[in-house]
Amino acid sequence: MDGTQEQHGAVAVQEARGGQRPAVLTEAARRRTFAVISHPDAGKSTLTEALALHARVIGQAGAVHGKAGRRGTVSDWMEMERDRGISITSAALQFAYRDAVVNLLDTPGHADFSEDTYRVLTAVDAAVMLVDAAKGLETQTMKLFAVCKHRGIPIITVINKWDRPGLDALALMDEIGERTGLTPTPLTWPVGIAGDFRGVLDRRDGSYRHFTRTAGGATIAPEEVFSAEAAAVREGDAWTHAVEESELLAETGAQHDQELFLAGASTPVLFASAVSNFGVGQLLDTLVDLAPAPADRPDVEGEPRPLDAPFSAFVFKVQAGMDTGHRDRLAYIRVCSGAFERGMVVTNASTRRPFATKYAQQVFGRDRETIETAWPGDVVGLVNAAALGVGDTLYAEQPVSYPPVTTFAPEHFAVARVADTSKYKQFRKGIDTLAGEGVVQVLTSERRGDGAPVFAVVGPMQFEVASHRMEHEFGAKISLEPLPYHLARITDEASAPELGQARGAEIMQRANGELLALFTDKWSLGVLVQNKPHLTLIPLVAAELS
Ligand code: G4P
Repeated sequence: MDGTQEQHGAVAVQEARGGQRPAVLTEAARRRTFAVISHPDAGKSTLTEALALHARVIGQAGAVHGKAGRRGTVSDWMEMERDRGISITSAALQFAYRDAVVNLLDTPGHADFSEDTYRVLTAVDAAVMLVDAAKGLETQTMKLFAVCKHRGIPIITVINKWDRPGLDALALMDEIGERTGLTPTPLTWPVGIAGDFRGVLDRRDGSYRHFTRTAGGATIAPEEVFSAEAAAVREGDAWTHAVEESELLAETGAQHDQELFLAGASTPVLFASAVSNFGVGQLLDTLVDLAPAPADRPDVEGEPRPLDAPFSAFVFKVQAGMDTGHRDRLAYIRVCSGAFERGMVVTNASTRRPFATKYAQQVFGRDRETIETAWPGDVVGLVNAAALGVGDTLYAEQPVSYPPVTTFAPEHFAVARVADTSKYKQFRKGIDTLAGEGVVQVLTSERRGDGAPVFAVVGPMQFEVASHRMEHEFGAKISLEPLPYHLARITDEASAPELGQARGAEIMQRANGELLALFTDKWSLGVLVQNKPHLTLIPLVAAELS
């Protein structure tokens, strides 16, 4: 945050105290908080850079975000990230665009960390679904899309890589409509087929936006606006074709409707080439013009907490060991109401304990800057947040608790054992920390005992991260023995004994006391469901989605 922003924040806080139109409402209305969701390789990192470039956060593409060996890595706190060219850490990039403040929340690229992505999605007000023009909707796109739908997050779709040969634009619209159930309502339509991207027809006013490529896509691509008549002369058949297709879309009702978009029934679509910076400015404009600003957030009882109520926020991510120099622990909070001022003492709703926010930072990649003030929609990284866990609510003055952050249904399970028993204390500390951060879910049972907790994960790479950290951060090398289970259902005390006897099943307990029944395969579960309908077997929220 620069000096002017800081000053602006201070003035705004003052205003809020002065009893005029609460500054918090003005500030919240300017916020656009979103994440980009995509299948790996669809161009998420490239688009993030392109957005930062457009908002003039960086001077040249390649400076903020990227994969190992290709560009500067965002987060190199763990060798694993470097070796594999993935980003496990995620934080938020904040920038000003027009009169808005945009918060772009980073999500990990690898499917194995989808649980992390899911948590990030609890903290956004909108999502950008990035689709590779040559591949259409891929597995991970569909999973993330389902999560957004479940949470009622409005989605803007971006068809990326239009500079390369790909699918037919209308066929892509059909695929989105059929597979997601959302009506695609293109705001722009490509002029030139995939691989011959000349510009876009702006369907809102019929004008033509012509893009000009820059060397290596390192700077903003110049755009020129032409009338339809001028475009017809300039682009000939490519323009006529675009107009015909756009008219066809209009006949099928593919026109933007703000209410349907906010209700999650339709998705505005834009065409882009992130690598050439084509269509990126339009995406930013669309976010500012159409994406929702933060709204009153429902608490655990479903009661909305007004934006101008005293400060409240919830922890959507906890991360440790980012800086090998000092082993710190960062809790990322999303502000939901009121003004955050660094140094304020807030209450952790789950423990009722005070928490001092002296060390508040904005983190993106290697950059960390102190944050003085934040408003609803903003993300704040709290340093040394040992007392905070994922899902915790923080508040000032008026108590509030936000709903717990739901976890993904784990699909892989392994027993963790400490290699050297003299390190048992370190082992316990490590396990508790990793569980609190949500790196893995930790399950226990009386039968297996405390010395043999079970790690439950969505993607096997989570095991690697956990093992690595147990050894290097906590000094407790562990062995992991895979268990043959692949499915989990929530059950209760009454059903547990019978389920425990069943073939291919085991009962374990979650940290929150909930009982989970684990199954080797869907057949052993299916047989039980059919033969013993009295047993409680509730799918985990995300199990339906994945
Ligand atoms: P991700 O974060 O979603 O995993 O994707 P990322 O941005 O890393 O992009 C994956 C690959 O797709 C990269 O190529 C990137 O350059 C390319 N890409 C992204 N956007 C576009 C686009 O609009 N058009 C084209 N043609 N390519 C795009 P790479 O081969 O992995 O790396 P590089 O050598 O190109 O840098």
